[in-house]
Amino acid sequence: MVQFGHDFKEKYYSLLDKDVTLVNHGSYGTTSTMVMEELKKVCELEENYPDAFYLIKAKERYVAQIKALSDYIGLDSKNLALVPNATMGINTVLRSVPWDFEKDSVLVHTTSYGACSNTVKFLHDYYGLKFDTTNNVYPMEDDDVLKNFEEKLATGKHKLCMFDMISSMPGVMLPYEKLITLCKKYNVLSLIDGAHAIGMVDLKFIDELQPDFLTTNLHKWMSVPKSCAMLYVNPKHHSTIQTNPISWSYIPNDIKEGSDEVADTVMIDKFWYLGTVSYAPMLCVEEAIKFRKEICGGEKVIRNYQVQLRKEAIKLVIEQFGPGAELLENTRGTLNVPGMFNISFPVEEKYVPVVKYLIDNFHEWRKFKADCEGIMVAKDKSFAPFLVHNNKIYVRFSVFIINEASDYTKSAKSIKVRLEEALEEKYQTLYGVGGKLQNLNID
Ligand SMILES: Cc1ncc(COP(=O)(O)O)c(C=O)c1O
Repeated sequence: MVQFGHDFKEKYYSLLDKDVTLVNHGSYGTTSTMVMEELKKVCELEENYPDAFYLIKAKERYVAQIKALSDYIGLDSKNLALVPNATMGINTVLRSVPWDFEKDSVLVHTTSYGACSNTVKFLHDYYGLKFDTTNNVYPMEDDDVLKNFEEKLATGKHKLCMFDMISSMPGVMLPYEKLITLCKKYNVLSLIDGAHAIGMVDLKFIDELQPDFLTTNLHKWMSVPKSCAMLYVNPKHHSTIQTNPISWSYIPNDIKEGSDEVADTVMIDKFWYLGTVSYAPMLCVEEAIKFRKEICGGEKVIRNYQVQLRKEAIKLVIEQFGPGAELLENTRGTLNVPGMFNISFPVEEKYVPVVKYLIDNFHEWRKFKADCEGIMVAKDKSFAPFLVHNNKIYVRFSVFIINEASDYTKSAKSIKVRLEEALEEKYQTLYGVGGKLQNLNID
């Protein structure tokens, strides 16, 4: 029986600063030492004889990673590629759909990840691609999420719908299987941002439901070194998908499925080499799977630990944040995921107008957030991201196999102090002598 927690962290995550209390695994992931050692070996191999590496070994090794990954998650390997990250996965798809910019439109949601919705905005600003947004305001029932999407999809205006499996901020689950079905019902392409998915949820549904496109980060929860993500492309798009950047493997998209160019290996042929960069992180997928299988005991064991610890962690954070703190959850309990949870941060009466001011002045909110988060990172060595959603501040915590319950008491305590200090400072600037709001006589 594997004993996860702090001893496990010390043994298998020895590169982590010992003074850091890591409760933000969700943002960047963290990689076990054993996999980092493999990364070093691959880098050395690249440098040992670059010609041999790029001309002979790299493709062979890439194919082995795809095979190991598809076996591990139970998907058909011919639809999978590796890309540097989820942002690249989304860009790859959005920049290879053969758009008719005169009429095509994309549907996203208000909680879509900024980098990904910005890709849609870029296509809008530069080429005139239209887009529309559904409003996700949590806590929200799945039925309401689906209803909002369906209202927009039923208009027949949208060619593609981009939605998350697990959103970033707040860290909540969407009813992704039903959203795929809805997209099919209205003949809309589905592009799924599953950045947080692998390592947290089972992905077998992909081959069963066959969405159009899906990307998921392997460097977040799967212990693959940064930068590595998986891109799934439905076989019907193998001929049109193009790499980002366009590279040697470009095949014009007038080639139809079934022709010689669109063979079973087209995803490998297109994606294995996109110019000279280090492919070392991608070539560590096998080692990361070995770590999760052999050292951790497999996906179920890992998830079970996260789910149990998460329950305890929620109680401890609520205790620290004090009266008014609540878990972000809907009545059916479908929002939460094994490795993340969001707790509302209760704000003293005196600071309510400060929060309102920050919500209304987005650039000030961003500065407030960056300053406060910077202090948490540097001074407390314990950081959890926070956001304003539905007029409340929520802090998002991550739960991983290196954590123990005491991490949440410790981090919640310091986060509370830092947030309150920052709110007091802002209060003084706004309401103190010469303060902006006092002068304007606004309260
Ligand atoms: C929902 C979601 N999409 C996309 C990304 C982007 O991931 P990356 O920075 O690895 O491209 C993230 C990162 O946290 C995310 O949470």
